[in-house]
Amino acid sequence: MRSYSLTSPAKINLYLEIIGDRPDGYHELAMVLQSIDLADRIDLRSISTDTISVRCAHPQVPSDCTNLAYQAAALIAAEFPDAFAQFGGVEITIDKHIPIAAGLAGGSSNAAAVLVGLDLLWQLGLTQSELEELGSQLGSDVPFCIAGGSAIATGRGEKLSPLPSIDNLYVVLGKYRNLDVATAWAYQTYRAQYGNSYVAGKQDLKARAAAVHSSSMVQAIIHEDPIAIGQRLHNDLERVVIPAYPQILLLKETFQTAGCLGAMMSGSGSTVFALCDSEQQAQKVQQQGRNLAQPKDLDLFIARLTSTGIQVLSSDKD
Ligand code: C5P
Repeated sequence: MRSYSLTSPAKINLYLEIIGDRPDGYHELAMVLQSIDLADRIDLRSISTDTISVRCAHPQVPSDCTNLAYQAAALIAAEFPDAFAQFGGVEITIDKHIPIAAGLAGGSSNAAAVLVGLDLLWQLGLTQSELEELGSQLGSDVPFCIAGGSAIATGRGEKLSPLPSIDNLYVVLGKYRNLDVATAWAYQTYRAQYGNSYVAGKQDLKARAAAVHSSSMVQAIIHEDPIAIGQRLHNDLERVVIPAYPQILLLKETFQTAGCLGAMMSGSGSTVFALCDSEQQAQKVQQQGRNLAQPKDLDLFIARLTSTGIQVLSSDKD
């Protein structure tokens, strides 16, 4: 097979708790991550030259080595030099639908798709856990994006425990086009303001991370209770991102008053999602978003929760 097309879905954070510092400079987190069917499409094509190239029509997506999808291919090429020599280079084409710098893991999901696709293109036969390990070298959300679905994520975000799927729910996503939040800034600001309340001891950190497994959010998912899931949405990063960008709160309140199950910022923002129990409810909430005072700058999407991560759409022999 000389080319693969893959779907590369976005994620939302149903729950994000910052527990403490890590020796590597990152944060210990306790999260519940959820894939949604708003997805990019990634095409991988073998080329005769031994180069990696990235093409994307979106003006804000870089095509050089700063693109996480490029870095995923470079990592596989470095780890498996014989396969790189045998199969040659790769052309990566990204068809962007997921808003960028939005807290939806678009870049991480694209990197995960390149890992999954190159494993197939170069016939490496990697296991899911080997792909996740490679993914963790690229970014904290990349391991989750490989298998996707619903999962508890602890550590940096790379320690995953799958949860039962809740793919009968919908979300409305609201993202201000000119409001991009840098993830590193959000975490650094959180540390500066709340670092003195971090859990410090190794055992205490472990216990706090383990507690998410029996948390009310996880119970709500296990019992397939949409109302309880909506009530237990949580994101610590709202504490620093919302004061800096009050329009995020306005959007969240608009969604809440429109009658959804719950509304929350995803990841480090700036996307706000409204959890809805039907497509009809989602359409009503989306309409309320459109009625906001300045909707021109606001992109609104409806997506369904999905139990799958990266999937092959098609493959071709030259
Ligand atoms: O892993 P990733 O590159 O996606 O993380 C982006 C930034 O978010 C990191 O540079 C770090 O500042 C912050 N981060 C963190 N702790 C985590 C994940 C991310 O502090 N567990």
